[in-house]
Amino acid sequence: MADLFEQNAFALADELIAGRALSKEEFTVLIRAERELSEEKSSELRKKLSERALELKNMHYGNAVYIRGLIEISNYCKNNCLYCGIRRSNPTTERYRLSKDDILSCCKDGYALGFRTFVMQGGEDPYFTPELIARIVREIKQNYPDCAVTLSLGEHTREVYAFWREAGADRYLLRHETANEEHYNKLHPAEMKFKARMECLKNLRELGYQVGCGMMIGAPFQTYETLADDLVFIRDFRPHMVGIGPFIPAHDTPFANEKAGTLDQTLFILSIVRILLPEALLPSTTALGTIHPRGRELGVLAGGNVCMPNLSPVAVRSKYALYDNKICTGDEAAQCKNCLAGRMRSIGHEVVTARGDSKLTEQK
Ligand code: SAM
Ligand code: FES
Repeated sequence: MADLFEQNAFALADELIAGRALSKEEFTVLIRAERELSEEKSSELRKKLSERALELKNMHYGNAVYIRGLIEISNYCKNNCLYCGIRRSNPTTERYRLSKDDILSCCKDGYALGFRTFVMQGGEDPYFTPELIARIVREIKQNYPDCAVTLSLGEHTREVYAFWREAGADRYLLRHETANEEHYNKLHPAEMKFKARMECLKNLRELGYQVGCGMMIGAPFQTYETLADDLVFIRDFRPHMVGIGPFIPAHDTPFANEKAGTLDQTLFILSIVRILLPEALLPSTTALGTIHPRGRELGVLAGGNVCMPNLSPVAVRSKYALYDNKICTGDEAAQCKNCLAGRMRSIGHEVVTARGDSKLTEQK
């Protein structure tokens, strides 16, 4: 006879699938069950949720996997997040920044390869003034009016976000990192504030961006409860996109000797998020591909529908080392795109070149 905890967890999984809004405590039970039940039972639980997640993903997006061309514009960062390989206090990071012409040339190559979204990501580098970013956004939109521009440049004032939006930026990715303030304070130095991060997300949403939040799975000090807080937050905030990847330690950071997040738990949370937000864009992240050779394929089978291959010049790729052993640092953009297309074909999916806007229509 299955014990009560196990029965309860499976009943909650059924209720989640049926669309009931679980409480934080109920999510906690589900997350704990995935870690603590017998191997047989936890994989049964994962399978149950991933099958539903894949079904929902197929219902809304079919077998299409959207690709976004990631351009890592700078690894200078004024921040000091304890987990991040490009934090300002990492003495061994070899710093670089791309010029406007470098970035435009990445877009040119990417466009020829079929990319219709360009993501400019980087550390919080004051060299890239609001004006400079706006100029680059305007030029990309002018050259490629059929493309979406996504920014992922950290925390800025509402005015700066509004300025970039007016310049033509369509989307913004800012992971919330954790929805639990105490946990946030253990991952960040005192000068970084949970409330400021949340305020940024709110501003981005109000300014009409398609917004992405997200978190690392297995981050230091993460608990079942903090993950449950993340799920409740994501359900209530209803972002267009949620970036979920495993935490992977980075050398020369305070968390260099911590354990990485697991494939199983990352896939499990990905599936739950797909069930909570059936129409969301969910990347199958490079970090997933880093901890498992077929991580990105498994991410799609667990409910993911976006991949973000790298368009950065090969010469700087390995320098944007958020964590150790990052994949694809030696491959040209064209190689990456072909490799990814083959990987997706191997699981019955097709990489598509559409802009891939979120189908999330109803916003709170
Ligand atoms: N500076 C921007 C920001 O703060 O949003 C964009 C760049 S930031 C490096 C992008 C994301 O990388 C972070 O939100 C974080 O979740 C992820 N990241 C950083 N260090 C990581 C690590 N050690 N393992 C996995 N992901 C990591
Ligand atoms: Fe980059 Fe496979 S996706 S080499």
